[in-house]
Amino acid sequence: MRNDRSGVVTRAVNRVKHWSVRARDRVRSLPVRASHRGQGPPLPPSRLMHLVAASEDVSWFLDGGKQASSSLRAILAKNGVTMESLGSILDFGCGAGRVLRHWENLQGPTLHGTDYNPTLIAWCQKNLPFVQFQHNELGGGLAYQDESFDLIYALSVFTHLDEPLQYFWIRELSRILRPGGYLFITTHGEHYLPQLASEEQERFRRGEIVVVGSRREGSNDCATFHPESYMRSTLATGLEVVDFVPEGALGNPRQDVFLLRKPQG
Ligand SMILES: C[S@@+](CC[C@H](N)C(=O)[O-])C[C@H]1O[C@@H](n2cnc3c(N)ncnc32)[C@H](O)[C@@H]1O
Repeated sequence: MRNDRSGVVTRAVNRVKHWSVRARDRVRSLPVRASHRGQGPPLPPSRLMHLVAASEDVSWFLDGGKQASSSLRAILAKNGVTMESLGSILDFGCGAGRVLRHWENLQGPTLHGTDYNPTLIAWCQKNLPFVQFQHNELGGGLAYQDESFDLIYALSVFTHLDEPLQYFWIRELSRILRPGGYLFITTHGEHYLPQLASEEQERFRRGEIVVVGSRREGSNDCATFHPESYMRSTLATGLEVVDFVPEGALGNPRQDVFLLRKPQG
Protein backbone atom coordinates (compact mmCIF):
# COMPACT_ATOMS: atom_id res chain seq x y z
CA MET A 1 0.00 0.00 0.00
CA ARG A 2 2.75 2.42 1.00
CA ASN A 3 4.62 1.41 -2.18
CA ASP A 4 1.52 2.12 -4.29
CA ARG A 5 1.19 5.57 -2.74
CA SER A 6 4.85 6.38 -3.25
CA GLY A 7 4.58 5.18 -6.86
CA VAL A 8 1.67 7.56 -7.44
CA VAL A 9 3.63 10.43 -5.88
CA THR A 10 6.74 9.65 -7.96
CA ARG A 11 4.69 9.57 -11.16
CA ALA A 12 3.01 12.87 -10.25
CA VAL A 13 6.39 14.51 -9.51
CA ASN A 14 7.79 13.23 -12.82
CA ARG A 15 4.77 14.63 -14.67
CA VAL A 16 5.28 18.05 -13.09
CA LYS A 17 9.00 17.96 -13.97
CA HIS A 18 8.11 16.98 -17.55
CA TRP A 19 5.59 19.85 -17.85
CA SER A 20 8.08 22.38 -16.48
CA VAL A 21 10.74 21.27 -18.97
CA ARG A 22 8.19 21.58 -21.80
CA ALA A 23 7.09 25.01 -20.61
CA ARG A 24 10.72 26.16 -20.34
CA ASP A 25 11.53 24.82 -23.84
CA ARG A 26 8.43 26.58 -25.27
CA VAL A 27 9.37 29.95 -23.79
CA ARG A 28 13.00 29.63 -24.91
CA SER A 29 11.94 28.70 -28.43
CA LEU A 30 9.75 31.77 -29.09
CA PRO A 31 12.51 34.18 -30.26
CA VAL A 32 14.17 31.45 -32.36
CA ARG A 33 10.86 30.61 -34.06
CA ALA A 34 10.31 34.29 -34.82
CA SER A 35 13.81 34.81 -36.24
CA HIS A 36 13.59 31.60 -38.28
CA ARG A 37 10.46 32.69 -40.19
CA GLY A 38 11.17 32.83 -43.93
CA GLN A 39 14.46 30.90 -43.63
CA GLY A 40 14.23 27.32 -44.87
CA PRO A 41 11.30 24.93 -44.43
CA PRO A 42 8.75 25.65 -41.67
CA LEU A 43 9.38 24.36 -38.16
CA PRO A 44 7.26 21.50 -36.82
CA PRO A 45 4.93 22.18 -33.91
CA SER A 46 6.50 21.77 -30.45
CA ARG A 47 4.74 18.47 -29.71
CA LEU A 48 6.25 16.87 -32.85
CA MET A 49 9.71 18.19 -32.00
CA HIS A 50 9.32 16.71 -28.55
CA LEU A 51 8.28 13.37 -30.00
CA VAL A 52 11.48 12.98 -32.01
CA ALA A 53 14.05 14.94 -30.00
CA ALA A 54 12.64 14.68 -26.43
CA SER A 55 12.89 18.49 -26.35
CA GLU A 56 10.98 21.43 -27.77
CA ASP A 57 14.11 23.53 -28.02
CA VAL A 58 14.02 24.98 -31.55
CA SER A 59 17.73 25.86 -31.56
CA TRP A 60 18.63 22.28 -30.79
CA PHE A 61 16.20 20.96 -33.41
CA LEU A 62 17.91 23.13 -36.03
CA ASP A 63 21.53 22.84 -34.84
CA GLY A 64 21.25 19.14 -34.00
CA GLY A 65 19.78 18.37 -37.42
CA LYS A 66 22.54 20.39 -39.08
CA GLN A 67 25.23 18.59 -37.09
CA ALA A 68 23.66 15.22 -37.95
CA SER A 69 23.70 16.02 -41.67
CA SER A 70 27.30 17.33 -41.45
CA SER A 71 28.61 14.28 -39.58
CA LEU A 72 26.84 11.96 -42.02
CA ARG A 73 28.47 13.80 -44.92
CA ALA A 74 31.89 13.84 -43.21
CA ILE A 75 31.94 10.13 -42.33
CA LEU A 76 30.91 9.20 -45.88
CA ALA A 77 33.58 11.53 -47.32
CA LYS A 78 36.23 9.97 -45.05
CA ASN A 79 35.28 6.68 -46.73
CA GLY A 80 35.46 8.07 -50.26
CA VAL A 81 31.74 8.75 -50.85
CA THR A 82 30.21 12.14 -51.67
CA MET A 83 26.51 12.74 -51.11
CA GLU A 84 26.19 14.35 -54.56
CA SER A 85 27.42 11.17 -56.28
CA LEU A 86 24.52 9.08 -54.91
CA GLY A 87 21.36 8.31 -56.90
CA SER A 88 18.86 7.91 -54.08
CA ILE A 89 18.86 8.35 -50.32
CA LEU A 90 16.38 7.11 -47.69
CA ASP A 91 16.03 8.56 -44.17
CA PHE A 92 14.54 5.59 -42.27
CA GLY A 93 12.71 6.79 -39.11
CA CYS A 94 12.86 10.34 -40.46
CA GLY A 95 10.70 11.76 -37.65
CA ALA A 96 9.81 15.41 -38.31
CA GLY A 97 12.49 15.75 -41.03
CA ARG A 98 15.04 17.19 -38.57
CA VAL A 99 17.88 15.98 -40.84
CA LEU A 100 16.14 15.86 -44.24
CA ARG A 101 15.42 19.61 -44.10
CA HIS A 102 19.18 20.20 -44.38
CA TRP A 103 19.35 18.43 -47.77
CA GLU A 104 17.00 20.90 -49.44
CA ASN A 105 19.77 22.23 -51.71
CA LEU A 106 21.58 18.94 -52.21
CA GLN A 107 22.21 18.44 -55.94
CA GLY A 108 21.93 14.94 -57.39
CA PRO A 109 20.18 12.28 -55.34
CA THR A 110 16.43 11.83 -54.97
CA LEU A 111 15.40 12.07 -51.33
CA HIS A 112 13.00 9.74 -49.50
CA GLY A 113 11.79 9.49 -45.93
CA THR A 114 9.73 6.95 -44.03
CA ASP A 115 8.50 6.60 -40.45
CA TYR A 116 5.96 4.47 -38.59
CA ASN A 117 4.31 7.51 -37.01
CA PRO A 118 1.59 8.75 -39.43
CA THR A 119 1.37 12.20 -37.78
CA LEU A 120 5.06 12.87 -38.41
CA ILE A 121 4.79 11.67 -42.01
CA ALA A 122 1.70 13.82 -42.62
CA TRP A 123 3.58 16.89 -41.35
CA CYS A 124 6.64 16.08 -43.47
CA GLN A 125 4.54 15.53 -46.63
CA LYS A 126 2.98 18.93 -46.22
CA ASN A 127 6.12 20.88 -45.35
CA LEU A 128 9.12 19.24 -47.03
CA PRO A 129 8.04 19.00 -50.70
CA PHE A 130 11.56 18.19 -51.97
CA VAL A 131 11.33 14.73 -50.31
CA GLN A 132 9.08 11.77 -51.16
CA PHE A 133 7.58 10.30 -47.99
CA GLN A 134 5.95 7.01 -47.11
CA HIS A 135 4.44 5.65 -43.95
CA ASN A 136 5.46 2.18 -42.74
CA GLU A 137 4.31 -0.19 -39.99
CA LEU A 138 6.45 -0.71 -36.88
CA GLY A 139 7.33 -4.23 -38.00
CA GLY A 140 5.96 -4.36 -41.54
CA GLY A 141 7.79 -4.33 -44.85
CA LEU A 142 8.55 -1.19 -46.86
CA ALA A 143 6.84 -0.53 -50.17
CA TYR A 144 10.15 0.13 -51.98
CA GLN A 145 11.47 -2.23 -54.67
CA ASP A 146 14.55 -4.37 -54.01
CA GLU A 147 17.87 -2.53 -54.51
CA SER A 148 16.34 0.96 -54.66
CA PHE A 149 18.80 3.01 -52.56
CA ASP A 150 22.49 3.96 -52.59
CA LEU A 151 22.35 5.20 -49.01
CA ILE A 152 19.95 4.56 -46.14
CA TYR A 153 20.50 6.27 -42.82
CA ALA A 154 18.73 5.51 -39.53
CA LEU A 155 19.61 8.07 -36.87
CA SER A 156 18.51 7.13 -33.38
CA VAL A 157 16.06 4.48 -34.65
CA PHE A 158 17.74 1.14 -33.86
CA THR A 159 18.20 2.71 -30.40
CA HIS A 160 14.42 2.23 -29.90
CA LEU A 161 13.80 -1.23 -31.33
CA ASP A 162 13.70 -4.53 -29.45
CA GLU A 163 15.86 -7.40 -30.68
CA PRO A 164 13.38 -9.16 -33.03
CA LEU A 165 12.64 -5.80 -34.71
CA GLN A 166 16.38 -5.12 -35.09
CA TYR A 167 16.74 -8.33 -37.11
CA PHE A 168 13.64 -7.61 -39.14
CA TRP A 169 14.76 -4.09 -40.06
CA ILE A 170 18.40 -4.88 -40.83
CA ARG A 171 17.13 -7.51 -43.33
CA GLU A 172 14.48 -5.22 -44.78
CA LEU A 173 16.87 -2.28 -45.20
CA SER A 174 19.46 -4.61 -46.76
CA ARG A 175 16.81 -5.78 -49.24
CA ILE A 176 16.20 -2.25 -50.56
CA LEU A 177 19.90 -1.29 -50.67
CA ARG A 178 21.72 -1.56 -53.99
CA PRO A 179 24.76 -3.88 -53.98
CA GLY A 180 27.61 -1.63 -52.84
CA GLY A 181 25.10 0.73 -51.14
CA TYR A 182 25.61 2.09 -47.63
CA LEU A 183 23.63 1.76 -44.41
CA PHE A 184 24.50 4.39 -41.79
CA ILE A 185 23.18 3.49 -38.30
CA THR A 186 23.57 5.19 -34.94
CA THR A 187 23.51 3.24 -31.68
CA HIS A 188 23.86 3.66 -27.91
CA GLY A 189 27.37 2.38 -27.12
CA GLU A 190 29.91 2.50 -24.28
CA HIS A 191 29.13 6.13 -23.48
CA TYR A 192 25.69 5.11 -22.18
CA LEU A 193 26.91 2.36 -19.84
CA PRO A 194 26.39 4.46 -16.68
CA GLN A 195 22.67 4.67 -17.53
CA LEU A 196 22.33 0.89 -17.17
CA ALA A 197 21.82 -1.17 -14.02
CA SER A 198 24.89 -3.20 -13.03
CA GLU A 199 23.42 -6.48 -14.31
CA GLU A 200 22.68 -4.80 -17.66
CA GLN A 201 26.21 -3.37 -17.79
CA GLU A 202 27.58 -6.88 -17.33
CA ARG A 203 25.48 -8.17 -20.20
CA PHE A 204 26.65 -5.27 -22.38
CA ARG A 205 30.28 -6.02 -21.49
CA ARG A 206 29.72 -9.67 -22.44
CA GLY A 207 28.73 -8.41 -25.90
CA GLU A 208 24.95 -8.81 -25.52
CA ILE A 209 22.39 -6.32 -26.73
CA VAL A 210 20.47 -4.68 -23.85
CA VAL A 211 16.87 -3.53 -24.32
CA VAL A 212 15.12 -1.46 -21.63
CA GLY A 213 11.36 -0.85 -21.96
CA SER A 214 10.88 -3.36 -24.76
CA ARG A 215 7.06 -3.23 -24.52
CA ARG A 216 7.16 0.31 -25.93
CA GLU A 217 9.38 -0.42 -28.92
CA GLY A 218 9.60 2.31 -31.56
CA SER A 219 9.09 5.06 -28.95
CA ASN A 220 11.71 6.94 -26.92
CA ASP A 221 10.56 4.89 -23.89
CA CYS A 222 12.28 1.85 -25.35
CA ALA A 223 16.07 2.20 -25.20
CA THR A 224 18.44 -0.29 -26.78
CA PHE A 225 22.18 -0.50 -26.21
CA HIS A 226 24.54 -2.12 -28.75
CA PRO A 227 28.04 -3.34 -27.91
CA GLU A 228 30.39 -2.94 -30.89
CA SER A 229 31.06 -6.70 -30.93
CA TYR A 230 27.31 -7.46 -31.12
CA MET A 231 26.96 -5.25 -34.17
CA ARG A 232 29.94 -6.84 -35.89
CA SER A 233 29.30 -10.48 -35.03
CA THR A 234 25.52 -10.67 -34.84
CA LEU A 235 23.35 -7.88 -36.26
CA ALA A 236 25.41 -6.70 -39.21
CA THR A 237 26.79 -10.05 -40.33
CA GLY A 238 25.40 -9.88 -43.88
CA LEU A 239 27.00 -6.45 -44.37
CA GLU A 240 30.59 -5.17 -44.40
CA VAL A 241 31.52 -2.87 -41.53
CA VAL A 242 33.22 -0.05 -43.45
CA ASP A 243 33.64 2.27 -40.47
CA PHE A 244 32.86 2.45 -36.76
CA VAL A 245 33.01 5.87 -35.12
CA PRO A 246 32.46 5.81 -31.34
CA GLU A 247 30.31 8.82 -30.33
CA GLY A 248 30.49 9.99 -33.95
CA ALA A 249 26.81 10.91 -34.33
CA LEU A 250 27.20 14.61 -33.60
CA GLY A 251 23.52 15.46 -34.07
CA ASN A 252 22.43 12.49 -31.91
CA PRO A 253 24.97 12.91 -29.14
CA ARG A 254 26.70 10.77 -28.09
CA GLN A 255 25.66 7.82 -30.15
CA ASP A 256 28.08 5.59 -32.05
CA VAL A 257 28.06 5.38 -35.84
CA PHE A 258 28.28 2.22 -37.93
CA LEU A 259 28.79 2.67 -41.66
CA LEU A 260 27.85 -0.64 -43.29
CA ARG A 261 27.94 -1.69 -46.95
CA LYS A 262 25.95 -4.30 -48.83
CA PRO A 263 28.41 -6.59 -50.59
CA GLN A 264 28.64 -6.34 -54.38
CA GLY A 265 27.02 -9.26 -56.14
C1 LIG B 1 14.51 9.48 -31.69
S1 LIG B 1 13.50 9.68 -33.10
C2 LIG B 1 14.72 10.19 -34.32
C3 LIG B 1 14.10 10.83 -35.52
C4 LIG B 1 15.09 11.23 -36.63
N1 LIG B 1 15.82 10.10 -37.13
C5 LIG B 1 16.05 12.29 -36.10
O1 LIG B 1 17.24 11.97 -35.86
O2 LIG B 1 15.59 13.40 -35.92
C6 LIG B 1 13.17 8.01 -33.59
C7 LIG B 1 12.29 7.94 -34.82
O3 LIG B 1 12.22 6.59 -35.28
C8 LIG B 1 10.89 6.33 -35.65
N2 LIG B 1 10.73 4.88 -35.63
C9 LIG B 1 10.83 4.04 -34.59
N3 LIG B 1 10.59 2.78 -34.97
C10 LIG B 1 10.36 2.82 -36.30
C11 LIG B 1 10.06 1.83 -37.29
N4 LIG B 1 9.94 0.54 -36.97
N5 LIG B 1 9.88 2.22 -38.56
C12 LIG B 1 10.00 3.54 -38.89
N6 LIG B 1 10.26 4.51 -38.01
C13 LIG B 1 10.46 4.15 -36.74
C14 LIG B 1 10.06 7.10 -34.63
O4 LIG B 1 8.73 7.32 -35.06
C15 LIG B 1 10.86 8.39 -34.55
O5 LIG B 1 10.48 9.31 -35.52
